[in-house]
Amino acid sequence: MTAPSSQPLLAGHPHFHYKHGVLHAEGVALDILAAKLGTPLYVYSRAALRAAYDNYRQAIGERPVLVCYGMKANSNLAVLKEFARLGAGFDIVSGGELQRVLAVGADPAKVVFSGVGKQAWEMREALAAGVKCFNVESTAELHRLSKVAQAEGRIARVSLRVNPDVDAQTHPYISTGLKENKFGIAIEEAVQAYQTAATLPGLKIVGVDCHIGSQLTDVSPYFDALDKLLDLIDRMAGHGITIEHLDLGGGLGIRYSDEVPPSPKALLDEVFNRLQARGYGHLHLVLEPGRSLVGNAGILLTTVQFLKHNEARNFAIVDAAMNDLLRPTLYQAYHGVRAVVPRQAEARLYDVVGPVCESGDWLGKERSLALEQDDVLAVESAGAYGMVMASNYNTRPRAAEVMVDGEQYHIVRQRESVEDLLKGESTLP
Ligand code: LLP
Repeated sequence: MTAPSSQPLLAGHPHFHYKHGVLHAEGVALDILAAKLGTPLYVYSRAALRAAYDNYRQAIGERPVLVCYGMKANSNLAVLKEFARLGAGFDIVSGGELQRVLAVGADPAKVVFSGVGKQAWEMREALAAGVKCFNVESTAELHRLSKVAQAEGRIARVSLRVNPDVDAQTHPYISTGLKENKFGIAIEEAVQAYQTAATLPGLKIVGVDCHIGSQLTDVSPYFDALDKLLDLIDRMAGHGITIEHLDLGGGLGIRYSDEVPPSPKALLDEVFNRLQARGYGHLHLVLEPGRSLVGNAGILLTTVQFLKHNEARNFAIVDAAMNDLLRPTLYQAYHGVRAVVPRQAEARLYDVVGPVCESGDWLGKERSLALEQDDVLAVESAGAYGMVMASNYNTRPRAAEVMVDGEQYHIVRQRESVEDLLKGESTLP
């Protein structure tokens, strides 16, 4: 399949397009970039990050909403800095992520700390930084946080992450709001947990939180969750417990192939309708989008090493692998694969696979491509849960990351070397 020139790569990827038969990120030709910097190479578009954030900002308008970027999706410092500049807050899930947001000078008062297994040191550091809120996931965590806060002479602002038991209708590994998931406090037990929180020293109740899943392509699960949370907030008020904000987690999906994900505006308009109808128009809203801010702002470049044909299949063996982009292996996720310089030749169906010694090491299956050895390919929608899930399996150094800005590009993470990998290891005397 050949892509016509000057066509957007994908509907969801407006900042990656073909110009004169060559795929560009903004104004940068990706064949040249690959030749200069080598592959595998993650390439992000600054304009795409900004556009994605702007999409939320416009949907929000004057309404009291804080966007806390779910930075687990892509925590490169350059990405974080961009969102910090745009005024975003951050949703963190570890002490490491806290250090990253502090490293880019983000405002800790806009940071919410999520996660099911926070350790005492992580709590201490977040308290010292002065985060906006801890999204607490169990009564045991309430007790630990209270103890740590007391010892530090600080007050921890808390929300309880409530599990509303709604089906987000997404991949089972990325649905988080069902009873069988490890996350949150069952909604039936939430009032009691809030009452416990109210009695514990060192804690101040400020919100209610939920997260129902990721890559949501339908808004109705959000509204089911919202209605349940509002019922809970009613019941809490009956016990004299009031809150300042509602954190409605659950990530809007992006377009990987033919999905038509809902827009932030479609979500927010209806959320505010319901808040107003229930008399909660004064509540502040926190959102924790990750994927929808970065997913289609990035691609992964990889070079064909060998083409291999057998009776059953054609394989394009490339230099990126499951250690670089785990999503296909882990979730059978679809990522588009395109030639950076498409050939005017007959296409074949290829399985695009990596060099790692696992049959599950594939990036795309049965893709119609006209290929030759050394061709450079772009794996689409790789801006979210790409580099952050990379590993060193098979002692493969992790890829470099580049941010394009107009006609310029900046290396925002150096390619790892094998020496880097061996550095921390030693043998016995
Ligand atoms: N907040 C919390 C508490 C989360 O657990 C998540 C994602 C987010 C925010 C961001 O959600 P998003 O907007 O990105 O959907 N590795 C998987 C995705 C795992 C998401 C887990 N939680 C993937 O590659 O699809």
